[in-house]
Amino acid sequence: MMKHMLDIIDWTPEELDALMDTADDIIAHPGDYADAMRRKKLATLFYEPSTRTRLSFEAAMLELGGHVIGFADAAASSASKGESVADTVRVVGCYADIIAMRHPKEGAPTVAASFSPVPIINAGDGGHHHPTQTLADLLTIRREKGRMNQLVIGLCGDLQFGRTVHSLMNAMARYKSIRFVLISPTELRIPEYLREGMKQLGVPFTEVEKLEDVIGTLDILYMTRVQRERFFNEADYVRLKDSYILTPDKLRPARRDLTVMHPLPRVNEISVAVDSDPRACYFKQVLYGKHMRQALILKLMEAAQ
Ligand code: CP
Repeated sequence: MMKHMLDIIDWTPEELDALMDTADDIIAHPGDYADAMRRKKLATLFYEPSTRTRLSFEAAMLELGGHVIGFADAAASSASKGESVADTVRVVGCYADIIAMRHPKEGAPTVAASFSPVPIINAGDGGHHHPTQTLADLLTIRREKGRMNQLVIGLCGDLQFGRTVHSLMNAMARYKSIRFVLISPTELRIPEYLREGMKQLGVPFTEVEKLEDVIGTLDILYMTRVQRERFFNEADYVRLKDSYILTPDKLRPARRDLTVMHPLPRVNEISVAVDSDPRACYFKQVLYGKHMRQALILKLMEAAQ
């Protein structure tokens, strides 16, 4: 069966560790990988806007010596004429060796994988999953903390619609002695299925509304944007959008070795005054995302041989 990247939990912790080892090696020896994807093509099919994910995939493939084709706007593709995802990937699979797809509908990349002749990477599906952002997050955690175990991880903001939060919790829940502190307004708490999943796995978590009450207890603070595009009602978005704004003042009680992460894009959740704090790691996260996507492309292409 062809290997894809659809949901982070389809990959074992050992497989994810191996991807991180490859990414570390790419960072240390980029020249060794400069021709690894020679004559291979990546297609980026983005039915939703993106800056980091699409461009990091494209940079990743180019730095591996490969080529990139695709679209950044579904309106410029035959999806606008009604072509299905299933037909689209069957067509694109005739032109490209691997496909990275972002789609507003949850499960669209899984449908794509069942029709595609080439590996499919889920580059974000609706409010569901974003496994390659999780790859970036995992490498950031490993390089910043030096471990994947014994961590208190605070996730703050829109935990209902924030797909990066869902994928990260599922990934980190499999490491030892992880505790989650879930900081959100009541309306934006994690989905029930995820709460039940954590209970079944026996992973401890607390749900709170005030960041100030818990910031001093955290090893990692993962801030998120309120996902305007997933709201049905603009008034609710406006009411909730500035629930949390991390400032140097709010960081004062935090640990000196706290790691502040954010999948980006940021709107107001982190004041730009925090960017110069050595604990701010969100731009490193962006760079690690490219290296992990390189490692993923290499692994999927090797598995497809
Ligand atoms: N983190 C992330 O998915 O960013 P983009 O939406 O810009 O790809």
